[in-house]
Amino acid sequence: MASLEALVAALFVLCFPHSISSTEVGQSYPIGCFSFRIELKSNYFEISPVSSSSSVDNCVINCLNLYYGYANLKNGDTCYCSSKHEGTSAGECTTPCARNSSQICGGPNSLSVYATGQLVPGPPEIKVDQVTESSILVKWKRPKAANGLITGYTLSLTYLRGFSSPLPPMEWEYAGNSSRARLASLHPGTEYNLTVSAVSEAGLGVPAITTIWTQIGDPDEPEVPKVLSQDVNSITIEITPARNQNGPISAYQIIVMDESVPTAFNESTLFAYALAQKENIPYYITAELNPDSLDTKFVVGDGKFYGGYYNAPLSADGHFHISMGVISFKDGVRKSNFAHATHEQHGVIVLDVGPVTRDTSPSTMVIVLSFAIAFFSVLLVLSIVVYVVMRHKVHQRRLRLPDNQELSIQGPILEVEGNGYVHTGYIPEDEDERTNHLEALKAKIWSIPVNHLDVKNDLLGTGKYGSVLKGSVNQKGFPVPVAIHSIADVLMSKAERKEMLKDLDLLVRPGSHDNLISLIGTCEHPDLLYIAIEHHPATLKDVLLESRILEHSAPDQRDNITRFCSLSEHSILNTLLGVADGMKFLEGKRIFHKKLCASHVAMADGVNPKISAIGISEYCRSQQSPTDLTRWTAQEIFRSGHFTSKSDVWAFACVAWETLALGGTPYPDVPTRELPARIMRGLILPQLPHIGDELFQLLLQCWQVDLDERPSFEELVEALHCLLDNPAHHVSFSLRSGFRYEPYAPEMESIAK
Ligand SMILES: *[C@@H]1O[C@H](CO)[C@@H](O)[C@H](O)[C@H]1NC(C)=O
Ligand SMILES: *[C@@H]1O[C@H](CO)[C@@H](O)[C@H](O)[C@H]1NC(C)=O
Ligand SMILES: *[C@@H]1O[C@H](CO)[C@@H](O)[C@H](O)[C@H]1NC(C)=O
Ligand SMILES: *[C@@H]1O[C@H](CO)[C@@H](O)[C@H](O)[C@H]1NC(C)=O
Repeated sequence: MASLEALVAALFVLCFPHSISSTEVGQSYPIGCFSFRIELKSNYFEISPVSSSSSVDNCVINCLNLYYGYANLKNGDTCYCSSKHEGTSAGECTTPCARNSSQICGGPNSLSVYATGQLVPGPPEIKVDQVTESSILVKWKRPKAANGLITGYTLSLTYLRGFSSPLPPMEWEYAGNSSRARLASLHPGTEYNLTVSAVSEAGLGVPAITTIWTQIGDPDEPEVPKVLSQDVNSITIEITPARNQNGPISAYQIIVMDESVPTAFNESTLFAYALAQKENIPYYITAELNPDSLDTKFVVGDGKFYGGYYNAPLSADGHFHISMGVISFKDGVRKSNFAHATHEQHGVIVLDVGPVTRDTSPSTMVIVLSFAIAFFSVLLVLSIVVYVVMRHKVHQRRLRLPDNQELSIQGPILEVEGNGYVHTGYIPEDEDERTNHLEALKAKIWSIPVNHLDVKNDLLGTGKYGSVLKGSVNQKGFPVPVAIHSIADVLMSKAERKEMLKDLDLLVRPGSHDNLISLIGTCEHPDLLYIAIEHHPATLKDVLLESRILEHSAPDQRDNITRFCSLSEHSILNTLLGVADGMKFLEGKRIFHKKLCASHVAMADGVNPKISAIGISEYCRSQQSPTDLTRWTAQEIFRSGHFTSKSDVWAFACVAWETLALGGTPYPDVPTRELPARIMRGLILPQLPHIGDELFQLLLQCWQVDLDERPSFEELVEALHCLLDNPAHHVSFSLRSGFRYEPYAPEMESIAK
């Protein structure tokens, strides 16, 4: 018990280093010699270690440092401190002090008692709890060194720093029997100096002091960005820097709202472009900007990435509001506020009235708006009629023409599906089960010690949640090259974080396979989450384009060349087998890839294919636009959007064709926007002159309209195994007269900037 008290006392000494000041304490003086009643021992605080205090001066100073009013010496070797002295019966003080034998230090059952000069109470023991934006709960214990009757407590808060202008000090008083108080009306995001002092008849006691930060509050509502000008696919805005009295401004988010869909904005479903498209939400975060390097002019829709968000080009016929959000983040608390887009901005954009003037008079606006509303109402009715008619026709044709050769659906319906970002991967399983699974997710991943991770300042590209840097991880003593996704997960909303974990799960869940890119581990920093993923600089696409010998040799050397590919037929088929094997593994785990194409297959050591762009591992290389997957998309996706593993089989056959065409672009003569309709009408990739019938038949099977007639990946692996018995029989890279490479059109494979 005594040692526990000593510990508490030691803590107090640490917390309140005290220098004796003559204004606070009087002089020390001897009180007398009294008998020591053992039953009252709990009123005394024993100083330890004993020997150092076994002189009057040491004992007095020690007790004073602990704010006790009395120092008591017993038997020449023990020093006790107390808040009052039990001076009733006289004792026999005969033992000289160990340190100074000319002084008397009590006796066997007697105390030599000295007043230390401390008159007012010592500091109470305090604890701060339940800190909110505007209040704190303070709990305290009566000071041990009360030195008299405690009549009350005084609490005070003074402003130290924060995000608002300095605030006046506040003070509260509580009764002597109280031990807790909720202090309210505090300012959010502010550091205060809290003092709690006991009050006795002798006066105001020594304060216990601590500092506390109140939680940050919602940022002030930012101003709606001003529209400066608009272009076909973009809108230039001017951002007014926000102000926030309640916390830091950690980031700005630029929000695009599609006004043609009447949905109330709800922050819990505010996502990046890709996810918003997938979930059919008419608003999305198009950019996240750093307030420290804020350029007040911003072009919405320039096709670049900002803070990990894709600033998607705006569709020319859309009607958009541009809004802005302010994110505030501190100590694990995230707050946000969004500008309420006004009708003024609305009117300007919807009507597309040429050069924008901010001072359009309200009455003009009303007239113009009324016309606009009337016009769009008519348009809406018309489109509904057209839609119903089309739907009816399509339905009839489908019934009549099972081979869908003459099916014609025009473009507009497909535009939504026409960009690669719609096809994000997901796991087709029960929602609840997966949510629970995510909780345990991080525990399954190797948590890389910070000193095993070497992050290079070399940007590889932009992932869905942040930038991707080059680096290496020390794994069992060897440096393994990795792509490091650096994610400011602390800044994410709950929904985004969930989506991110889902994407991470896609990489963790299947486990490892030789033909899948693998997750190495994660490393947590105070404000960044690093996700390290196996990295190989070359993709299958790069390797194929590199193998085009004729394009890489000087004209005078070409005469001696007999083959048009530097890779062997066996190696090409073997690569396809590897990709099919990786896909078979995913198929077995019931995971759809949805983004298969040669650019999404990494080549380890230039020969071993590893399927990438799964879940979180996807990123867009620096200086490149995101891949547009329209050319690899199965016909049923354009039709219904319903994905099955047979849709991955379709894409695989496109990859096979791409591989055999040595990196050629599928359908190079068809513009992307026409492609969905053409594919639904039965367009498929042509047979290449250097490919045997048996191999092409295999691809044709993968492009069957009837999903049941398409092979599974398991069957594809088997078939490719057979073809590998005699590769030269199925593929031949021997140069024939009139040979030309299939055209490679990079702009057709990426989303236009
Ligand atoms: C011992 O105590 C006497 C009487 O209080 C004092 O005068 C003297 O200075 C002390 N000696 C030492 C070494 O502290
Ligand atoms: C404190 O004492 C006052 C009367 O002196 C009494 O009314 C009050 O209930 C007491 N409070 C507590 C917490 O005991
Ligand atoms: C807090 O207040 C006390 C008493 O007013 C003062 O001594 C102390 O320096 C203050 N602390 C800080 C960090 O300013
Ligand atoms: C926003 O969406 C969430 C989840 O979808 C829902 O729980 C919440 O009630 C919505 N809030 C408003 C204001 O509609």
